[in-house]
Order: sequence, then C-alpha cells, then structure tokens
Amino acid sequence: MLDQNRTPYFQALLDYVDSGVQPFHTPGHMQGHGADRAFREFVGDNILAIDLTPMPGIDDLLQPTESIKEAQELAAEAYGADHTFFLVNGSTSGNQCMMMTAVNPGDKIAVPRNSHKSMLGGLVMSGAHPIYMQPAVDQEMHMDNAVTPETVERTLDRYPDVKAVYLVSPTYYGVAADLVTIERIVHERDKLLLIDEAWGPHFKFHNALPISATEAGADLSINSTHKMLSAFSQCAMLHQIGDRVRLDRLKAVLKMFLSTSPNLPMVASLDVARKQMATEGGALLSRTIELAQDVRRRLNEIEGIYSFGEELQGREGVFDLDPTKVTVRVTGLGYTGYEASEILRRRYNIQVELADLFNVVALFTIGTTEEAAERFVLAFQELARDDRPLDMYAPSGILEQRLTRQTYILPEIPPMRMLPRDAFLADTEFVQFRESAGRICAETLSPYPPGIPVISPGEEITPELIDYLRLELKAGVRIQGPYDDELRVIRVVKE
Ligand SMILES: Cc1ncc(COP(=O)(O)O)c(C=O)c1O
Repeated sequence: MLDQNRTPYFQALLDYVDSGVQPFHTPGHMQGHGADRAFREFVGDNILAIDLTPMPGIDDLLQPTESIKEAQELAAEAYGADHTFFLVNGSTSGNQCMMMTAVNPGDKIAVPRNSHKSMLGGLVMSGAHPIYMQPAVDQEMHMDNAVTPETVERTLDRYPDVKAVYLVSPTYYGVAADLVTIERIVHERDKLLLIDEAWGPHFKFHNALPISATEAGADLSINSTHKMLSAFSQCAMLHQIGDRVRLDRLKAVLKMFLSTSPNLPMVASLDVARKQMATEGGALLSRTIELAQDVRRRLNEIEGIYSFGEELQGREGVFDLDPTKVTVRVTGLGYTGYEASEILRRRYNIQVELADLFNVVALFTIGTTEEAAERFVLAFQELARDDRPLDMYAPSGILEQRLTRQTYILPEIPPMRMLPRDAFLADTEFVQFRESAGRICAETLSPYPPGIPVISPGEEITPELIDYLRLELKAGVRIQGPYDDELRVIRVVKE
C-alpha cells in the first residue's frame, strides 16, 4: 500500500519554487516575471511560479524516473491498474494512443458507431480496419445507449479475426455498458479490450457509481480527469492492465504523442486530483450523488419536466447509470433542449454542459454547491410556471416536425470502400451533395441527436443516405462533422 496522501509531483514543483533557483529556462515568462501584467494579476503569481519545464528534480513526463513515476504509481494503485500514464491532451490523445498501441495497419477493431470523434483520429493514425457496432437506441428517450454484450458477441462471431474491441462507457448521458460480461466475452476469445471511459474518472471511488473500466479488467482504458474530477482541462489518464498489450509499445506511442514541454501545473493537478479521490473521494462523491439525486427528484415533481434515473436500468444498452449526470427533458414545456439551454443562459445565467433536441444535460460534480443546485431547480420551476409568450424563445416548431417523423430508425451503415485512414489521406474534392451518390465520403456526418454517424470516411454515399440527410436538414436537425454545415457540398475522395 502506498501513501495516497502524498502528492510527489506537486511537491517537487513547490520545492523548486522554495529553493529560489534563478531560472534561465523555458517558459519564457520566467516564473511570471515576464508575464503580461493584467494576466498575471488575474491568474496570480503561484500558478506562474510552478509553470516550469522538465529538469533535474522535476522529472520528465516522457521518461519519468522520479516524482512523476511515483505520482503515476500512486494513480495506478488508486485506480487498480498495473500502470497509469498522465496525459495532457485529453482523452482525445488517449483514444489515439490506445489504438496506436493495440492495432496495426489493416488489423480489425470492433468500435461503436457512436464513438467520440477522437476514435476516428485513432483509426486514421493506426490504419486499422473498423468493424462498426451499432449502439442500442432508445426510441422513447431519443437517446443512444451503450453497446450490449449481445452486439459484441455477434460481432466477434461474425468477424473472428477482430483483434481488439473498443467500447465507450459511459455515454455522454451517463449510461454505462455491462463491462463485466463484455470483458468475459472479449477475453475468452483472446481479444484486447479498450475502453473510452472519458466520462467516468470518478467511478472507481464510489460504490453507487457504475463499475469502472479498470475494475472490469480492460487492457487499456482512459479517463478525462478534467471532466468529472478536479484536474485542469485537458488532463486525462491512461490505465493499463495485464500483459495482453505490450508495455514497451505503449510507452513508445506515448512518447510520440506527448509534448516535450507539457504544462506542469496540469500534471500537478492530476497528481492532486488522484490524492483527493483516493483520500476523500468516497465522502465527496456521496455528497455529490445525494445532491444530484435530490435535484432529479425535485425536477420530476415539475409538470412538463422529466429527468431519468434508475427506472431506465435494464433497458437495452442501459446496464447502469451515473447519477451525477442530470439529463433534463424539457419537451413537455414545448421547448427543444437547445432553446431551454439558451433560456437558462440568458435569463438565469446558468450554463449547462450539453443541449440536444430534447434535453439539457447538467454535470453535478464534487465542485457543485448546494446553492448552485438550488438555483438550477428554481430556474426550471420558474420556467415551467412561466406562461408569458417568450418572444425570441418561442418554440421553433422543429420539435413537432421531428417527433412526427420516425428518424430514429437509423439508416443502414453504408458499404466501406476504403479504410478511414486511406480516405482521410486521399486526394479529395467537393461535389454537390445531392449528386454525390456512389462517391466515397471523406468526412463524417452525424445528425445530432443521437450523434451517431450515418456515414464515415471511406464509406460509399448511397441515394438512401442522401434522402435521409436532406430530410433531417429540412427538419432542422444539426448535422455534425461536415465541412459545409448545410450540406450543399460534400468532401469526397477524388476518382
Ligand atoms: C466519449 C468521449 N471520449 C473522448 C472525449 C475526448 O476527451 P477530451 O476532451 O478529454 O480530449 C470526449 C469528449 O467529450 C468524449 O465524450
């Protein structure tokens, strides 16, 4: 057992500052002396004083031998991993590193169709051959859930040469997959299991939260420590377990992806966030979970509002739920989620994490105060009472159009004619979207929600897909991913 109260890396930075060394090294602001005055006054001297560079006594993230090594060992123990690595370019780089480690050009990897876009970055960089798995889609909730064990099993039956299974759990809405069953299915067949757990850095530290990727035994997994815990933005961790992946390859990949000048306050914030969770995580998360559950209960007392909870557990693709994500369905008030999000911001000065056509999603974390939670509930209570015409906020009618069309019947995944990497790197050109049938797409198009790509780089544009997307656009649905938001033109591979 290591002493989880220690923060060796943060301490190394403090020791450097205390020692009064005269800096002649990067960064050029020289511990704040050269910083812009207004900026320095606002951010304070201390953060600038520890904005240093790898050097003796401070250790090097690329080749850790001292305090970063110890900080990463503490994190590995806290998460139950064999090795943990700090990342300073988010889970975005984590996804890329996992794929670059696990698969080679042409290797098959099973991936959910509704992965974060950084998964595609991993495919492009690694040159792997994706076998897409459709997540479960809840027609009633208009939400994409996790991939089910049955889908993983079917995929591996059909493609026995798949080398790795990559999962996203939890989803943006806090829906977690059945990781234990999936782990058994994947490892029984001697495949690798990679999990994008960007939204679950807190899972390991409370029993009321879904089981974590490391507890389930994923070979590689990633957490965005900045998303739900207290580390600075961009801070993430990559965990490794067992001997199915080669540690030397993983280390080489990390070295290639990491900056030689990582932001050291960020690295220290990872060290400190781990200590905070390991030593007081249980208590902090208990309070957070209670707060979120109380808010959910009070929101559900308001007519026209629905915030889902445990009652969804057991539906297809909903094995477990993260109660700290509060999804508020506002359509009962006649608003889209986008409209409600705008009202919350403009009228109540509240900014939510995400809005979709039906919902707004708010994060409740260890940093959410009771006053903030109260303000959140009061805003919805007032919004529901308000029968004044809301002029600029008048419901747009998008909703009715969308609800009368069963657009959640996702179109067939189009045939893949090129690997994502080859399509991404190929010579491309823009053609009229309505005349693009038969061409190979070089971009991703995801109607949002549910945010599942209907076409990805390397796939053939079909006439059905053109009709589908034109209807979506007409219904006011946002299409994420293309160069041209309105899809007049589309980027395709040159013939
Ligand atoms: C599932 C998932 N994976 C990865 C990422 C990328 O994480 P980061 O912003 O830490 O790079 C996100 C970001 O929202 C995400 O939702």
